[in-house]
Parts: sequence; structure tokens; C-alpha cells
Amino acid sequence: MKICIIGGARPNFMKIAPIIKAIKKHNRFRRPPIDYLLVHTGQHYDENMSKFFFDDLEIPIPDINLEVGSASHAVQVAEIMLRFEKVCLNQNPTHVLVVGDVNSTIACALVATKLGIKIIHVEAGLRSFDRSMPEEINRVLTDAISDLLFTTEESANENLRREGISEGKINFVGNVMIDTLLFHKRKAEKSDILRKLGLMNLGKNSSKDKVDPYSVLTIHRPANVDEEDAFKNIIQGLSEIAKSIPIIFPIHPRTQNQIKEFRLESYFKWHSGNGSKFRKEDGIIDCIEPLGYLEFMKLMSNARLVLTDSGGIQEETTILGIPCVTIRENTERPVTVTNGTNVVAGVKKEGIIKAALAQLKRKSIPCTPALWDGKAAERILKAILREKEITSKQRDYVKEDAIS
Ligand code: UD1
Repeated sequence: MKICIIGGARPNFMKIAPIIKAIKKHNRFRRPPIDYLLVHTGQHYDENMSKFFFDDLEIPIPDINLEVGSASHAVQVAEIMLRFEKVCLNQNPTHVLVVGDVNSTIACALVATKLGIKIIHVEAGLRSFDRSMPEEINRVLTDAISDLLFTTEESANENLRREGISEGKINFVGNVMIDTLLFHKRKAEKSDILRKLGLMNLGKNSSKDKVDPYSVLTIHRPANVDEEDAFKNIIQGLSEIAKSIPIIFPIHPRTQNQIKEFRLESYFKWHSGNGSKFRKEDGIIDCIEPLGYLEFMKLMSNARLVLTDSGGIQEETTILGIPCVTIRENTERPVTVTNGTNVVAGVKKEGIIKAALAQLKRKSIPCTPALWDGKAAERILKAILREKEITSKQRDYVKEDAIS
């Protein structure tokens, strides 16, 4: 057995980290060891979108980097396929393990299936039912060709069953992203990002530092930022919220480009991040460079509110108990609404403002959906080894049958 693990874009890295950790632990104590190979597609390449995550999460340096970089979706997927096919032909993996729903996920899964290599999909079955999102297409197609599908919530199991995926392929194991969060929580607490951003307020009657109230924003989905009127409307809503509470915005490169493109700079101010006292300006959103994993976790954990269009952040805020407003029409992670702190606000400014003001009144209560307990990667490894045992028994049986 040889597993080729794929990481490509920022949200992949926190998902592959606990899986690699579980394999390393297995290899320290058990025999035979699991042979594995880490491939970075290079979909994300900026230091603060990739390298800092590898450092923070202690992910080994990839064995191979395909260095595909940015391009249109068709070109990006095609380039990954061309380059990854060569890797598969040279390395002969028995399994390709892909996570999440990014272009690297579908591209590598397609290569594997054409070569008859088994596909393991971690975070399978999530559905927004919105086919205009590139991630939804990536999810549906990857699941359709995967051999082992690992899910994070019950809705994902139901979606896969409805799509005709056989029960034997579906494994409800919990959430690897939450494995990473729980594992790194203590380390993240030590980050001094709040001081760097001037958010610490030295309490008058106590020597203990206190944190000023603030919210955190992340937004980068093409549907939200690529169309001028839609983006402007969202920004106007956020600017209104910024009159009630400061908004700290670690800004994704795509969004940064779009702000320039649509000349929306007047709504934003670059935050120095040099430790000087934070100064709130009514209606202005405070931009900072994208943060590494530990700094972002610390920033999010101490926020009063998180505004986002990310998928993973809806899950992380649920576990942290931080009220979350999702700036989208839907979520593929409904458990964060039914059992968590998330509210789906839509993409119109009135809805976003209303949801944010309501969420600001909500108490911070951590929630733990079923199996989000830090052990998902271990369950995944167990299931992979179980499947390997079954396949080799079947192979032996076929061999014996042929001999007799
Ligand atoms: C991708 C994922 C999305 C995920 C997001 C997290 C797909 C279809 N989308 O979107 O699901 O939530 O990553 O970040 O795979 N860029 C840089 N430096 C980088 C990477 C990107 O400057 O390291 C810029 C480029 O201008 C690029 C743009 O960001 O064109 C978009 O990057 P891309 O990887 O195409 O998609 P994301 O929007 O990041």
C-alpha cells in the first residue's frame, strides 16, 4: 500500500496535517509501516497562503511540488492533471487521498481514477446544492469517483446515499479540520497577534490584559467578490457593521485584486500591525495581510463575531463558540447552523447587517457536533487499514480459487 496525499490550497493544509500525523504515529509503533508521499500541487504558492501553514502545522516539506500556480479553472485543473499523471506513473501509488473541494481535489482524483488508483476523499458528501459554485462541482464529481468517502456530518451521509453511493464506501468519521484546531489550540493561545494589532487593553483595576471587542472578516468567493455591484453591496453592509464594532480583515489575494479593480479602497484602511494602539474609524474596515494558522486561530478565538464566506471557518467558529455570520445564500455545512453558532445571512447588505447585530447579542457557547472530537484522522486511518485487509483477503481468495 502506498498513499499519495494531496495538498493544494490553503484550506487543504489543516486537513492533511492530522492525517500525516496519524500515519507517522502508526509507523512508529506498528508494522508494516504505511508508505506515503506528499504532493503539493502549488495551487496556492504565496508564503502566507501556503508555507506559513506548513510551518505552523508542522507538515513535512512536500516530496513533490507541481508548482501549477494561478490560472483559469480549466487551465489550472488541466495543468495539475498533466503534472500529477507523471507523478502517479513514476511513483505507483495504490491510493490517492484528496481532501475538501478545491481544484486540486478534483484534478488529482480524475488522474487517479483514469489510472485505476483508488481514491480516498476526506470531507465527502457536503452539498450546497448551488452548482454555480466551483467547489460544488468539485465535490459532486470527486465523490462520484471515490472509493472510500469520509464524512463530517450526518447531512453528508444522506447526500451521498441520495446520489447512489453505496453504503459500504461511506464512513462517518468526524472532522479532520477540528482535529487540527483542538491539537493546536494551546499553541495558538500563545500567539501575540492581538498585541501586534493593538487590540489589548490594559485593564484599569487589574494587571491582566483585556481584549477590546472586535470582529473578524474573511471574504473571497468569486460569487461575492468578482461581480462589482454584488461586492459593493456587501462592502456597504460591512461598513455599516464597522460603525458598531471594528472589523479586522486578513485579506485574500483575490479580494485585494477586486478592491483595486472596482476602486473600493475608500472603505478600507491598512492596519500597521506594529503594536500601536488600535484606533477605530467609523465605517472603515481594517485590512491586514493573510495570517498563518496559529495567529488566525488566536484572532478568531477572541473575536465577538466572525463574518465569512469560507466553509471551514463556519466549522471552526462552532467549536470555538464564536457567533458566525455566513455571507452566502447557503451552506454545505448545515450542522454549523442546527448544532453550532452559524447564521446564513445571504449576500444583501440589509440581511448581513441584521444578522450581525443579532449575533453580537448572542453569548459565546462552544458546540461540538457528533464526532468532532479530535480523533477523525485516527478513524480514517483505521478504516483505510481495514479496507486494505479486506482487499488483500479478497485477492488471496481469488488466487486460491484460481489455483484450485
Ligand atoms: C481556492 C478554492 C476555494 C478556497 C480558497 C481558499 C477552488 C475552486 N477554490 O480559491 O474553495 O476557499 O482557495 O483560499 O479551488 N492567489 C495569489 N497567491 C496564492 C494563491 C492565489 O495571489 O498563493 C491569487 C491569484 O490572483 C489567483 C487568485 O488568488 O488567481 C485565486 O486563487 P485560486 O487558487 O484560483 O482560487 P481561490 O480564490 O484562492
